[in-house]
Amino acid sequence: MAMTPKLQALLAAATLLGAPAFAADAPAKKPAKPAAPAHSLAPLPLGEKVGWSHAPFEAGDCSICHAKNDPKNPGPLTKTGNELCFTCHEEFAEIMARKVKHPPAVQACTNCHNPHNSRERKLLVAEQTALCFGCHADIKGISEKARVKHAALTTGSKCANCHNPHGAHVEHLLVQLPFDLCVNCHSKDGVSDGRGSTLTNFTKWLEANKVWHAPVEAKDCSACHKTHGSENFRLLVAEYPAKFYAPYDPKNYALCFGCHNDKVVSEPETTTLTNFRDGSRNLHYLHVNKADRGRTCRACHEVHAAQQDHQIRDGVPYGTKGWVLKLNYTKTPGGGSCAKTCHETKSYNNQAGQPAKKK
Ligand code: HEC
Ligand code: HEC
Ligand code: HEC
Ligand code: HEC
Ligand code: HEC
Ligand code: HEC
Ligand code: HEC
Ligand code: HEC
Ligand code: HEC
Repeated sequence: MAMTPKLQALLAAATLLGAPAFAADAPAKKPAKPAAPAHSLAPLPLGEKVGWSHAPFEAGDCSICHAKNDPKNPGPLTKTGNELCFTCHEEFAEIMARKVKHPPAVQACTNCHNPHNSRERKLLVAEQTALCFGCHADIKGISEKARVKHAALTTGSKCANCHNPHGAHVEHLLVQLPFDLCVNCHSKDGVSDGRGSTLTNFTKWLEANKVWHAPVEAKDCSACHKTHGSENFRLLVAEYPAKFYAPYDPKNYALCFGCHNDKVVSEPETTTLTNFRDGSRNLHYLHVNKADRGRTCRACHEVHAAQQDHQIRDGVPYGTKGWVLKLNYTKTPGGGSCAKTCHETKSYNNQAGQPAKKK
């Protein structure tokens, strides 16, 4: 396939932090300058259960930060604003000098932290996710309403698994480049998706399979996945069939056809649209374009990375027992062949409109 200008543009757009490749994907909405929700900064009333207490407050000497050591009336602070915090948390002066800064942290550390004590971990003024959602209603909407949810938002440090709520070197306050973020967490064996299938160990998979799909090569996982939640199978940005067989309808392949020409699968005869053809007989059409049991792209292609050219896969998982059927694909000059798995050995010839010789 020749690189079309559209694909070139997409690849160019698929920078590390580029805009999503899908027109249907509305540009990220900026939160309308959220106002900090009102919360008290006083020490928790006596008798309330304290979950977390700030070491200098625990020390009991109010004058560490206030003018007087009088618990009833400690008076004004010795330093104003974040400077007070930086006197002890020196590393935060560096964090807040980073290229990407979180406006509420620039404004006041106390937008999120109680300087005395709190029911919440890390002295937060409210449960962390609720705190973020208080200002980021759009992300709240996406993640709560999404049909497919991402456990990355609700396990471990939650939003802070991926974002530094203070400042960062990477756009969108990310703690690492997005590709590293995804791959590093998806680097364990045997992690379940909670519905009986096992997720890929990406560090291993990408290491073992050197033919990377162009958007993966561009390190742009977000070209196809919505991190915070999605309506589609596997958090995809657009539709893609979930099963091995599917009735053909271009709508179901909106993901692939967002970047690839759908004519590859809709024209029975061609000598230009695809090299997966025998003479002019379009074998993509033949395999995929069926009213009931059309094979989905995953029958032959790996979507992330594979050993063979064109991301042709080695084998396909079959049935519920985890059998893997070998595809035994061999590329030949001007064609290719598949041996003895889905059918007897068959070959195709895509040169000069000539079909492969019958055996
Ligand atoms: C680590 C520094 C620190 C220490 C120690 C500290 N405070 Fe504070 N305190 C603050 C900050 C910061 C504020 C918020 C001021 C603001 O922004 O309005 C504050 C505000 C308060 C307020 C007003 C809360 C409000 O809603 O306006 C009270 C009451 C208070 N502190 C009591 C105490 C008492 C009593 C002690 C000692 C037992 C103490 N603080 C020790 C940092 C400290
Ligand atoms: C007088 C020194 C001092 C000042 C001033 C101070 N802190 Fe602290 N803070 C500490 C110490 C000591 C700890 C405990 C550190 C530890 O356990 O590693 C701490 C812990 C924290 C923690 C919890 C971190 C953790 O993992 O336990 C937060 C959040 C925090 N401070 C925020 C603030 C904020 C916000 C301010 C300014 C309003 C502030 N601090 C001012 C000394 C200070
Ligand atoms: C938008 C909310 C928000 C603001 C504003 C904010 N923080 Fe935090 N801070 C957090 C969250 C959330 C965590 C917990 C992160 C985690 O779980 O890894 C945290 C953690 C911390 C910790 C503990 C770090 C650790 O390694 O455990 C310290 C110290 C701290 N903040 C200090 C500050 C200081 C100083 C400021 C002002 C410059 C500030 N924070 C402003 C949300 C905020
Ligand atoms: C698994 C990693 C991950 C987690 C967890 C995560 N995010 Fe994000 N977030 C990203 C990435 C990556 C981007 C960059 C845009 C993109 O690719 O979708 C982003 C972008 C954003 C943006 C700015 C762009 C936009 O889409 O509006 C906001 C705001 C945001 N995230 C808030 C949150 C909040 C709030 C949480 C917790 C509920 C959270 N994120 C949890 C990875 C994550
Ligand atoms: C007090 C309100 C407030 C709270 C609380 C808050 N944010 Fe923000 N956040 C903002 C504002 C304002 C911006 C800047 C939005 C803009 O770019 O127009 C922002 C920006 C961001 C961005 C970068 C967006 C981008 O496109 O680059 C991320 C990511 C983010 N916040 C995550 C979080 C997370 C995670 C939390 C909870 C720990 C949180 N925010 C809590 C107000 C808040
Ligand atoms: C903090 C760890 C963590 C990070 C970072 C992370 N993930 Fe995940 N992800 C998980 C876990 C745990 C699951 C399995 C549970 C689930 O289904 O959500 C998962 C599931 C998924 C799924 C399958 C969802 C389903 O239910 O079918 C996809 C797709 C995915 N992640 C993509 C990504 C992408 C893309 C990134 C980078 C933007 C990323 N992940 C970053 C932890 C993480
Ligand atoms: C070209 C689109 C595309 C790109 C780019 C992409 N993915 Fe996927 N991803 C998919 C599709 C399609 C599926 C479903 C595969 C299937 O079921 O056959 C999927 C499934 C997944 C899954 C769940 C299934 C599994 O095997 O674990 C995870 C996790 C995942 N992708 C992570 C990533 C990460 C991390 C990146 C970036 C390195 C990435 N994806 C880049 C399209 C893409
Ligand atoms: C974000 C854009 C994007 C999406 C979405 C996408 N691709 Fe691709 N794909 C590309 C680009 C760019 C290339 C490289 C084009 C080239 O080599 O001419 C490519 C190459 C391929 C190749 C290898 C072509 C070759 O000859 O080596 C296959 C096979 C493929 N994609 C299948 C798929 C399938 C299946 C899907 C849907 C699950 C999909 N793609 C979704 C952008 C995308
Ligand atoms: C029955 C196996 C099979 C299925 C199913 C299949 N492909 Fe292919 N595809 C191939 C083979 C084999 C090639 C390599 C052709 C060559 O260059 O000889 C290929 C090549 C490609 C290419 C490179 C350009 C070209 O057409 O020569 C793209 C892009 C592609 N396929 C996308 C898809 C998409 C998208 C789907 C699902 C809608 C899909 N394929 C389904 C076998 C398959």
